[in-house]
Amino acid sequence: MVREVEFVKKNRKSLKHKFSFAVRNPGKVPRYVRRLVRDAWLKTRHRGDHLAYYQAVMKSDTARNPEAAVGSQTHQRWLALGKMQFDYLKRHGLRPEHKMLEIGCGNLRAGRLLIDYLEPGNYAGIDISPDILKAARNTLAEYDLESKQPLLELVADNKFVLFPDGAFDVVHAHSVYSHCPIEVIEECFVHIGRILKPTGHFDFTFDRTEGEEHHVLHEDFYYRTETLVALAEKHGLTAVFMDDWERLKHHQSKIRITLGGSPTTS
Ligand SMILES: C[S@@+](CC[C@H](N)C(=O)[O-])C[C@H]1O[C@@H](n2cnc3c(N)ncnc32)[C@H](O)[C@@H]1O
Repeated sequence: MVREVEFVKKNRKSLKHKFSFAVRNPGKVPRYVRRLVRDAWLKTRHRGDHLAYYQAVMKSDTARNPEAAVGSQTHQRWLALGKMQFDYLKRHGLRPEHKMLEIGCGNLRAGRLLIDYLEPGNYAGIDISPDILKAARNTLAEYDLESKQPLLELVADNKFVLFPDGAFDVVHAHSVYSHCPIEVIEECFVHIGRILKPTGHFDFTFDRTEGEEHHVLHEDFYYRTETLVALAEKHGLTAVFMDDWERLKHHQSKIRITLGGSPTTS
């Protein structure tokens, strides 16, 4: 059953929203204009290939500031958002002996805590951006985590061919599919079941709307919960909206995917 609370997004694409946002946040207008110009340029270069498009977005954002590129405007927020993800996974049963994959690991905002917690060799992180993976390697060095032997890999799709069947207890994607069109999410749903253990789960966050589904500048995509749940079910997966994540007041929502039955939701 899908229950929903709070954080339903307005349509950020509407002119009315844009105008009132600009009036309320004049300081954010230059950044929006910069993104608008970049979108116009990148659209012509990467028409029809969203992952190549978003890789270019990450290149430009990472060059400015890797922590801001993954969505944290200050180092304090970077630390806090990593801890929020880590604490949630632990509360939901993550144990050091578990094998875990982080899709869109970024510069290891959560990954540094996960790598430290898991037994050596049990963390794998994949990302489409070579630039943010370079920043991830800097994080590994900074926190002295190389001895935990994490696997960090660049990928060009979401088919997970690097991994054997049933490889993972936990798969996690935070603020990744909120940046993806539906066909990228569907590719993930087609392949994710193969790499999950029968008892495993895959949690991902998404930008939720109860109105019209839309995207802003090909960077932020807004979906209805029922769209993603139905898409998961189409591929034989079970999807549950995670109410307890809403209580943390993060601006995105979370869905848990399992291979069937009734997944634990808290
Ligand atoms: C907003 S950042 C979040 C990073 C990390 N999950 C965190 O919470 O710090 C999104 C990351 O996902 C990566 N990404 C976007 N789409 C992806 C996809 N379909 N597969 C793998 N990585 C993706 C981006 O390159 C970027 O590093």
